[in-house]
Amino acid sequence: MHLVEANGARIPALGLGTWTLKGDACAQMVARALEVGYRHIDTASTYGNEEAVGAGLKASSVRRDEIFLTTKVWYTDIGPGDLERAAEASLRRLGVDHVDLLLIHWPNLQISLRKSIAALNAVRAAGLASHIGVSNFPTDMLKQANAFSEAPLVCNQVEYHPYLSQSKVQSVARSLGMAMVSYCPLHRGGDLFHEAVVRNVANWHQKTPAQVILRWHVQQQGVVAIPRTTRPERLAENFAVFDFELAKSEMASISGLSRAGHRICDYEFSPKWDAA
Ligand SMILES: NC(=O)c1ccc[n+]([C@@H]2O[C@H](COP(=O)([O-])OP(=O)(O)OC[C@H]3O[C@@H](n4cnc5c(N)ncnc54)[C@H](OP(=O)(O)O)[C@@H]3O)[C@@H](O)[C@H]2O)c1
Repeated sequence: MHLVEANGARIPALGLGTWTLKGDACAQMVARALEVGYRHIDTASTYGNEEAVGAGLKASSVRRDEIFLTTKVWYTDIGPGDLERAAEASLRRLGVDHVDLLLIHWPNLQISLRKSIAALNAVRAAGLASHIGVSNFPTDMLKQANAFSEAPLVCNQVEYHPYLSQSKVQSVARSLGMAMVSYCPLHRGGDLFHEAVVRNVANWHQKTPAQVILRWHVQQQGVVAIPRTTRPERLAENFAVFDFELAKSEMASISGLSRAGHRICDYEFSPKWDAA
């Protein structure tokens, strides 16, 4: 098991993203992923699949204490009181007594960050989450959140793939002892898999483009990736990224694909991002 150590948490470096997975298909994918060797599952209240993720965990023979389970509180629910209630509701839907990691899904400029972080700490102190963290926080807010938090924040989950540099967030997260968890790690497929550099590196290592990109993530210090797939046969492919290594020059060429403004997840409620 490849783990990223982050402020006391030991986070499996490769997890299963579950956005868009629903119902029985979601439960089956979660159970199947655990069979393949995944020990990290990422969900969120807003994905509408916490019951299904919970059903997948129950259907599996892997013990709950071997699984690193993350969920997230939606940004409208992070006020004091609301956040605690949202966390309790997530646990009820998941059918577990705690999650391993609870994240604030997005910052909310209308709600005091100090109070949100206090509420997140209260949930942790009550034993409902072993670790706490944030998602979609630019560096200024990440530093503030960290300063407000009594317990250490263990990660910032952000969009990260070769088309989008996150060097600023990455260096602040690292300096604070946090992991950076890459979402959309594959840039949702498509063009990235057809880049000449990705194809050449894949051919050289006899790996698929997806494996090369996932390897590029997990080979970076403090980085965790949570690719999603709806196809059971791809679970093993995406997990088989620990038996080869990219050369420094290959890492650099893949990082060289980054271009300004290549962000997928950007909404009217997004914070002001760090400049590329
Ligand atoms: N914190 C946040 O705000 C936030 C935002 C977005 C996502 N997330 C989390 O991050 C997870 C991952 O991000 P994502 O789902 O947006 O995108 P992603 O993991 O980058 O890409 C998923 C897409 O890639 C395809 N794919 C997966 N493995 C492949 C392979 N081996 N070969 C070819 N295509 C492959 C999948 O198609 P198939 O299904 O056909 O395999 C799917 O269309 C989410 O599921 C969610 O848990 C968090």
